[in-house]
Amino acid sequence: MVQFRSLRLSLRFVVPLVIALGILAYGVVPLVDNLTLRWFVRDIDIRSQLIGRTLHEPLAQLLPEGNRSRINALLLRATQDERLLALGYCDAGGVLRYRTPAFPKSLDCSAIALKDKNKDEGTLLHLPQGSVHVSVHPMVEDGGEGGSLILVHDMSFVERRSADTRKYVLTFFVVLGIVVSLITVFVAHLSWRGWMEGVRAMLRGEGILRPFTPQKVQNSELQPLVGDLRALLRTLDAERRFADDATITWSPESLRTLLHKQLVGEKILVVSNREPYLHIKKDDHIEVNRPASGLVTAVEPVMRACSGTWIAHGSGSADRETVDRHDRVRVPPQKPEYNLRRIWLTKDEEQGYYYGFANEGLWPLCHIAHVRPVFRTSDWEQYVKINQRFADAVVAEADNDDPVVLVQDYHFALLPGMIRKALPKATIITFWHIPWPNPESFGICPWREELLKGMLGSTILGFHTPYHCKNFLETVDRYLETRIEHESSTISRRGHLTMVESYPISIQWPPPWEGALPPVATTRAEILQGLGLPPEQLLGVGVDRMDYTKGILERFAAVERMLELHPELAGRFTFVQIAAPTRSALEEYRAFEARVHGMSERINDRFARDGRPAIILKAQHHEPEEVNRYYRAADVCMVTSLHDGMNLVAKEYVAARDDERGALVLSQFTGAAHELHEALIVNPYHVEQTAEALYRALTMPDYEQQERMRSMRALVRDFNVYRWAGRMLLDAARVRQRQKLAARIGGES
Ligand code: F6P
Repeated sequence: MVQFRSLRLSLRFVVPLVIALGILAYGVVPLVDNLTLRWFVRDIDIRSQLIGRTLHEPLAQLLPEGNRSRINALLLRATQDERLLALGYCDAGGVLRYRTPAFPKSLDCSAIALKDKNKDEGTLLHLPQGSVHVSVHPMVEDGGEGGSLILVHDMSFVERRSADTRKYVLTFFVVLGIVVSLITVFVAHLSWRGWMEGVRAMLRGEGILRPFTPQKVQNSELQPLVGDLRALLRTLDAERRFADDATITWSPESLRTLLHKQLVGEKILVVSNREPYLHIKKDDHIEVNRPASGLVTAVEPVMRACSGTWIAHGSGSADRETVDRHDRVRVPPQKPEYNLRRIWLTKDEEQGYYYGFANEGLWPLCHIAHVRPVFRTSDWEQYVKINQRFADAVVAEADNDDPVVLVQDYHFALLPGMIRKALPKATIITFWHIPWPNPESFGICPWREELLKGMLGSTILGFHTPYHCKNFLETVDRYLETRIEHESSTISRRGHLTMVESYPISIQWPPPWEGALPPVATTRAEILQGLGLPPEQLLGVGVDRMDYTKGILERFAAVERMLELHPELAGRFTFVQIAAPTRSALEEYRAFEARVHGMSERINDRFARDGRPAIILKAQHHEPEEVNRYYRAADVCMVTSLHDGMNLVAKEYVAARDDERGALVLSQFTGAAHELHEALIVNPYHVEQTAEALYRALTMPDYEQQERMRSMRALVRDFNVYRWAGRMLLDAARVRQRQKLAARIGGES
């Protein structure tokens, strides 16, 4: 295909060239003919004069004698010169007196007499037997006017030589034309390939990699044009993104439309470790649980909108009993909309891959929350093995060779590379839900190169914030041989391109229970009553997994400090901490949970008044509807993570407050703090500052609560989870289009 196109392009150069050469050849040949003829005529003129002068004297002696035989013999001898065809003698009266045998019959003295005898130049005549050159040499006879010696030269040799010259000239020009054409074809071919390579690279996104553009494209004379095209593409991309944001109202419907239009109805495959629904044995029946997971909260509504298959670890005690023979179950249970494909792990596998490498290694490594990461070879081996198992499941679930796969989180750093190997044309969107540390911190990991290479199998690699993207680019720059374009946030490795982009995750909007809830006052009254607190009690809430990254101890310290600073609130304020048990197989987590319990007890010992505790710790799983009731009841929600990719609790709290009341205290170390500017932003390591923010939240006037909450709600509404997924899918669709276009114009992608 490439060759055919370059040939066509070459012909466009060659055809006019050949025409030009033809014109040149046919213009030049007659000119050359003419010149050769003139050279030969002049040559014959000179020879004629020479022969004339040589014959003059003996002929002048013989003529008066009138000795015919001797004169004829003289003339005949002279014609032995190969080019002198014949000689004749015309007397003064214009009668041909003597002639050699070859003297042309059609030539008579009257015709010759017309010629100027005194002229040195001969005349060319075209006679029936061929062209001849006739020259006249005047003879002076005794007693006056003399006759003329007529010299007739054969001109056929001139024609022969002319024909030869014409042949040589034509051959020369044809050969020259062919050589020039071949050079042109070669140059055109190279230019076309260079150009195509440039355009293809650009379409793949590589074109934006200015400093690392392949040498031959860089040196190409098309470079300025490629540069302009790049700039144009970049502007168009930016404008299109801007237009998308301005014109699309992100909802399940718009996401579905996008999927069908832009990704031509592609079936989506999601891969995560945590499954969205767990089947749990409870006494003699099976219950369905939804885990406390930001990932599940975000991806589930997307999956419901798009359908497809979600591949996840089947970790519920009754999971095996509820799947079909392909390990699939339709979910949500009440209204099935997509497939959940469960992957089974043995205890050892779960220990090594999930608890070990993912949660003792990568989790603390990425969070930099002052818990040292632990890396063991045995954990790594399980991590590799389980990533491969999930990759095999993706290949088995894909019903074409270019599926759209959404890979979730740090459990699957190797998965993109493995899928890419099996399905080179797949569109792989990997989203890293936790922070990405700086290169030095990440460098601690003994398998850092393998992890990075695996991640670079992705088409798009998403983080919550531009800051995490920057860290990732710098890490890759430090540890791998790649070409990185920081301006466009793309990495090229071994011909494969990965776009690194920030996509702040969010929650569904409108919330699932919108319009179906009792008024806030009712919920508040019920919650307070349930907690055994009086109706006027000030209520704070924190909702987390029991994880050391969440800043639960720092939060309690702030509550304690606030009560120290404002003792009048002791007994009037209670903080409810919902903490879902998590990863309790790990010692670090068990120790942390014990510290949380210990600290809440200690604070309660100091500040509880008449059965009204300062802290109520609810260390158990709560279903989302129940959590939402607490959000609606609370005067303040505290999110004090020490480091968090986004933290969706902050957004859930805002979404729950349709009464536009309540205040949010938010850690500056969460991704959410980059978006929810109207929250009271704190450094959780700074106990007084956090305590002060808590107090300010509890005493915030209604109008201020309303203004802040209204603004934050608008943001969560517009930047909802459908936009998060939609932006990634839109970018993926663009990449796919570019790859297809690159394949069409270049025969390969
Ligand atoms: O933050 C990373 C993450 O995967 C979240 O998306 C989720 O909230 C949490 O970890 C879940 O952890 P686990 O699945 O280990 O309980």
